[in-house]
Amino acid sequence: MNPEEKVREWVAILDFGSQYTQLISRRVREAKVYSEILPYNISAKKLKKRNPRAIILSGGPANLSANKSPFCQQEIFNLGIPILGICYGMQLMAEMSGGKVKHSRAREYGKATLKVDKKNILFKGMSKKLTVWMSHGDKVDKLPTNFKVIGHTTNSAIAAMAKPGKNLYGVQFHPEVAHTPKGEEIIKNFLYNIANCSGNWTLKSFINQKIDEIRKKVGKNYVLCALSGGVDSSTLAFLLHRAIREKAFFIFVDNGLLRKNEPEEVRKIFQKKFRLNFKYVDAKKPFSKKLRGVVDPEKKRKIIGKEFIKLFEKEAKKIGNLKYLAQGTLYPDVIESRSPSKGPSSIIKSHHNVGGLPKRMNLKLIEPFNRLFKDEVREIGKELGLPEEILSQHPFPGPGLAVRILGEITEKKLTILQEVDKILIEELKKSNFYNKVWQAFAVLLPVKSVGVMGDERTYGNVVALRAVTSSDGMTADWAKLPASLLGKISNRIINEVSGINRIVYDISSKPPSTIEWE
Ligand code: XMP
Repeated sequence: MNPEEKVREWVAILDFGSQYTQLISRRVREAKVYSEILPYNISAKKLKKRNPRAIILSGGPANLSANKSPFCQQEIFNLGIPILGICYGMQLMAEMSGGKVKHSRAREYGKATLKVDKKNILFKGMSKKLTVWMSHGDKVDKLPTNFKVIGHTTNSAIAAMAKPGKNLYGVQFHPEVAHTPKGEEIIKNFLYNIANCSGNWTLKSFINQKIDEIRKKVGKNYVLCALSGGVDSSTLAFLLHRAIREKAFFIFVDNGLLRKNEPEEVRKIFQKKFRLNFKYVDAKKPFSKKLRGVVDPEKKRKIIGKEFIKLFEKEAKKIGNLKYLAQGTLYPDVIESRSPSKGPSSIIKSHHNVGGLPKRMNLKLIEPFNRLFKDEVREIGKELGLPEEILSQHPFPGPGLAVRILGEITEKKLTILQEVDKILIEELKKSNFYNKVWQAFAVLLPVKSVGVMGDERTYGNVVALRAVTSSDGMTADWAKLPASLLGKISNRIINEVSGINRIVYDISSKPPSTIEWE
C-alpha cells in the first residue's frame, strides 16, 4: 500500500504536462492540504481506491483541437469527487462532458481581466473583476449540458465554468501562478468550500506520519544512509535517527572533493549525534587515483558514482543484515524523471546519487521526501533540530568540486578552488546575500590569461563566479549581485589566492545553460 493512502485528506493532481503542475501542488500544500501529482492516465479505479478529497486537472501543452491530445479516463468524472480543471484541464472537462473546444484565432497570453458572471463559491469573497494570467490557444466554444459560465474575458466568452451540483469547476486561466493575484484564494475556495478540506496538513504531522511508516517498514532490519552533510541527507539522517535510533547507520565519504573544512564540520556534528553508528570514510586517495587525467565531465561523474558504490558495498558488508537504503530524493527529481508528458528525456548530466546501489546490493529504498520540495525539507530539518549552518547551506553537487574544476583535477587546483570558494561564501554571508540566492560557487577554468601585479607580468588562471536565484533548481536566473560586492570578492580572490589573476561573472540562466558548468 502506498504510504500516502493513509493521509486522510489529500488532493490528486493529474498531470497533463504543464510547466506549472508543480506550482499547483505547492499552492495546495501551502493551503495546508497534502497533494500529489499523478499521471493523467491513472485509472479511475486506482484513484477511487486512494480516495482523494479532490482532483485537479493540470494544464498542458497539447491542443484538443489537434490529434493525439491526452485524455483522462471518462469514469473519473463519475466518481463524485470534486474536480477543478485548469486551462487544458478545463477544456478537457468541457470536451469530455459533451461541450466543444475550438482553436481560437485570438489567442490569450499574459494578463487578462476576468469578469465574474455569477455569484459563485469559487470566487467567493472576491470582486467582480479579477486580474488573471492566461496562456492558451484553444478555448471552450460550447458549454456542456448543465454547466454554466461563471466568468469571461474579452477573448474568452467561457473563461470559467461550473456544474455546481456535481462539484465540477473549470478555469481557463492559471490560478497557481503569482501573476493571478487572487489565485491562492481561488484554490483555497475550491479546497475548503467545494471539496470540504479542513486544511490541517502540517509538516509536523508529516514528520510523525513518516516516523511511523519508517518504524513499521524497517522492523528489526538495518538501514544504511549515505550522508553528505547537505540539507536533504542531513534532514533525512535526523529523521531516521529519531525513528529507529541504532538501527540506522550513517556513512560519510570524504572523497577529497568537498569544500574547505567541510569534512571536519560534518564529522563534528554527526559524530556527536550518532556516535557509533556514524562512520567517516577517508577515500581521498582512491578518488584522486581514479580521476587522474580525466577531463570529460560525464566520465568524471561516472567514475565518482562508481567509486561511491564500491565504498558503500564494502561498508554495507561490514554491517550485515542490511535491508534498506535511505535517500534524500526530492519531489523535483521524481517529477523530472517520471513526467508523463516528457517521454524519454535526454540525459543532460548523469546526476550523481547512490541510486545505482539498491539494484546491485539488493536493497530496498526509503525516500521519505520524494513528494517534498527543498524548502519543505528545510522546514522539516528545522523542526527536527538541525543546526542552522546545515539548514541554510546551498545545494552542493554529488561529484563536488570535480565538476567545478574544468579539465583535469589535481591537488593544486583543488586547493585553489577551495580557497576561492571560501572567500566567495564568506563575502556573501557578510553582505547577507548568501541566503538571498539559491546557490553560489566558483568554477576554475582551464584558461590562462595575462595580468599585471606590481610591475610584474602574470600569466594566471581564470575563475568564473556563479550565483543563481531559483525555486527548485530546475530553472534558474543569474543573481543580480551588487557590482560593489562582486568587485570586493574579485579583489580578495586575486589578492589572496595565488595563481588567479582574472575573475568573470556568469550571467547565463537555466535554460539554456545549467547551473553547474559540467
Ligand atoms: P544543473 O547543473 O543540472 O544542477 O542545473 C541543478 C542542481 O542540481 C545540483 N547538481 C547535483 N546534485 N548530484 C546532486 O546531488 C549531482 O550530480 C548534481 N549535479 C548538479 C546543482 O548544484 C544544482 O543545484
